[in-house]
Amino acid sequence: MTQHLVVPARPAARGEGEPNAQRRTGWWREAVIYQVYPRSFADANGDGMGDLAGIRARLPYLRDLGVDAVWLSPFYASPQADAGYDVSDYRRVDPMFGELADAAGLIEDAHALGLRVVFDLVPNHCSDQHEWFQQALREGPGSALRKRFHFRAGQGENGELPPNDWESIFGGPAWTRVTEPDGTAGEWYLHLFAPEQPDFNWEHPAVADEFRSILRFWLDLGVDGFRIDVAHGLVKAEGLPDLGVHDQLKLLGNDTMPFFDQDGVHEIYRSWRPILDEYPGERIFVAEAWTPTVDRTANYVRSDELHQAFNFQYLATPWVAEKLRDVVDLTLEAMRPVGAPATWVLSNHDVTRHATRFANPPTEATQIRTAGDRALGLRRARAATVLMLALPGSAYVYQGEELGLPDVTDLPDAVRQDPSFHRASGQDGFRDGCRVPIPWSGGEAPYGFGPVTDGPSWLPQPDSWAELSVEVQTGDPTSTLELYRSALAIRAAHPALGAGDGVEWLDAPAGALAFRRTHADGAFVCVANTGSSPVRLPVPGRLLLTSGEEPVESGGEIVIPADTTVWWSL
Ligand code: NOJ
Repeated sequence: MTQHLVVPARPAARGEGEPNAQRRTGWWREAVIYQVYPRSFADANGDGMGDLAGIRARLPYLRDLGVDAVWLSPFYASPQADAGYDVSDYRRVDPMFGELADAAGLIEDAHALGLRVVFDLVPNHCSDQHEWFQQALREGPGSALRKRFHFRAGQGENGELPPNDWESIFGGPAWTRVTEPDGTAGEWYLHLFAPEQPDFNWEHPAVADEFRSILRFWLDLGVDGFRIDVAHGLVKAEGLPDLGVHDQLKLLGNDTMPFFDQDGVHEIYRSWRPILDEYPGERIFVAEAWTPTVDRTANYVRSDELHQAFNFQYLATPWVAEKLRDVVDLTLEAMRPVGAPATWVLSNHDVTRHATRFANPPTEATQIRTAGDRALGLRRARAATVLMLALPGSAYVYQGEELGLPDVTDLPDAVRQDPSFHRASGQDGFRDGCRVPIPWSGGEAPYGFGPVTDGPSWLPQPDSWAELSVEVQTGDPTSTLELYRSALAIRAAHPALGAGDGVEWLDAPAGALAFRRTHADGAFVCVANTGSSPVRLPVPGRLLLTSGEEPVESGGEIVIPADTTVWWSL
């Protein structure tokens, strides 16, 4: 069992008890934002599927954990072809998650606890059941509604070939041919993801108007911000040119694509920013933008655009000191000129949890299908989190990582719901493994996820999760949950942690990285040993926290075990 030092009293959450509009400014420059995946967080009605009432009831847990804000993945009306990222009505809550009053109540309760709330906005595509798309299908070629999507005639003698060679992120062509109202095979429509997710045509003014109105709808309800899904995809290159290569997925994130990261997307965000700024309380946008470089990512967070963008380059960095140091430098250098905070993230609902990624040999891949060495993975995951929380800027925590949950790599195929699992050669076919409902308490499934009234949870939980529940880990100073609580409490209280735009690198033995952060009221040192043997260095200050065993001090030196991160105050 590993140990760490626990700070007993939790400082008040930032802004706790203050009305939203009067809270400290710049909160998002250092916020720790917790991602709730509504299907899998807490199930109040016992149907095996998480819901808004469940989340509401568990908000005190998040306050006590010490996070500043909660981001909820989509809970809008949706046929669930892509777990809610296929929205059929942007202003309605899907009955499986509750109703609008639950969303309003959730925001209200969160604010009363000093937590902010970020919702997910899905502007690149909707559901094929959205009324605009259904009307477009009914009205046929050339109709006004078809212009709100990308409908095109096919190539080939009878239009039997897709209009261009773009491939869907979920595998297969990015085009599907429709049957026209008269029963003939007709036009094709573009869907960068599943066929049930037609892409909007953002050149059309009605699309832009509609999304401005949707923003206001949720802002009026009191939401503190939006995570923008596929923020890099809204604008497509003029004329929808062929890419000229197959296996386009391999290029994602490394190359310029005619459907991703086009300069035109920035006009959209410039038009959104004034809307958000009209509302009190410093509301924010965070971009899900997969771009080839952190410099391209920085374009999304220029001062008249979005506030934050996820740092996927960091997420994809293996647990190797030199590589981590490089990505931290690149990130901070890229963000400094635009004045945006860096963000740090290790897990989310689209990637293999970091406890499992780090249980496998070092890789930049974000989808891993093997369980690997669980104990090693957990040890590294804890160390990686403690490192992440020491870096300047804002950090994201994905539900369940605070329990040290691994991915469930052995889900039976029959229960898998990820749409790309069922489409050959898709990118992310194994995303169900990180979406299994989290364990709260008790010795058997569903481990307090909900009352068992209506069958098992939507994805089965492994037997081994009894040991990982919130109940079991609470109060155990060696648990991952208490490590997160301690780390977040120290981060909130230490003047040199949180916001900032630089770190001062210190000499460190091979396999380790070390940096100092300085503030007028106190300095801080973090050392992460990513190697497989202990490293020795001069004692830097007063020990605050370790992700593993307490380091041994002798003769002015301290020994940091393998795969361990340690914090000191100076
Ligand atoms: C990114 C989301 O995080 C993912 O879950 C979804 O499948 C795609 N965007 C499409 O909306």
